[in-house]
Amino acid sequence: MGRRKLVVGNWKMNGLLAQLDDVEAIGSVAAAHPAVEVGLCLPATLIGAADARRGGAFIGAQDCHQNGNGAHTGCLSAAMLAQAGASWTIVGHSERRQDQAETDADVAAKALTAKAAGLNVILCVGESLDVRDAGDAEAVVSAQLLASLPQGAAADWLAIAYEPIWAIGTGRIPTMEAVATMHAALRAELVSRIGDEAQGMRILYGGSMNGDNAAELMAIADVDGGLVGGASLTAAKFAPVIAAAAAAVG
Ligand code: 13P
Repeated sequence: MGRRKLVVGNWKMNGLLAQLDDVEAIGSVAAAHPAVEVGLCLPATLIGAADARRGGAFIGAQDCHQNGNGAHTGCLSAAMLAQAGASWTIVGHSERRQDQAETDADVAAKALTAKAAGLNVILCVGESLDVRDAGDAEAVVSAQLLASLPQGAAADWLAIAYEPIWAIGTGRIPTMEAVATMHAALRAELVSRIGDEAQGMRILYGGSMNGDNAAELMAIADVDGGLVGGASLTAAKFAPVIAAAAAAVG
């Protein structure tokens, strides 16, 4: 089943105008690897300027509000982000689930609002270290996925990112076997909910992915790409991850 690899940088709360040179350089790397879909989810303040220099990469946002508009001081709507130049957005990142107390229902609502504005969506799920150590990771993350999955979930606008919370920014990753087990469990959960559509849906791995481990991770059958934080902040660090995805395509 030909799922095009998807490799996305999440810059989180990093990036000023000076970093647009790296956006442009990453866009050039993306253009050189057309077999891979490459994107950068940037701070909203950079989206407009980055769109003009994105090369072969798409530009995305990191969140959107669940409502279309209204009295929500400081928040951004999906339509605003789309108009600024975003074609994707992340929803449900663990940092927002923790810092902003976003619930599964919020995340599903955000995904639907984003789709209505024409954005593609990366929906994040992942377990804490306590859950992993208790042996409950697959059950907990599968339940989180089902509860966060929007109505009408389909492979042409939605991708899933499995990001173990304890692997984010720590340099630690699960064993390859654990990643394979989790991704297979998530695929099975998607099949139970949306049937054959699940076979085309990309499931990304995220959490300390870098140029040293990307090739091994991307070779896992149900790993369809990566959501990359720290190693996406410069072209020098991100290029090897993109190249590993291209090599995994063959
Ligand atoms: P790191 O790659 O820095 O661990 O971040 C992963 C992540 O949270 C991407 O969304």
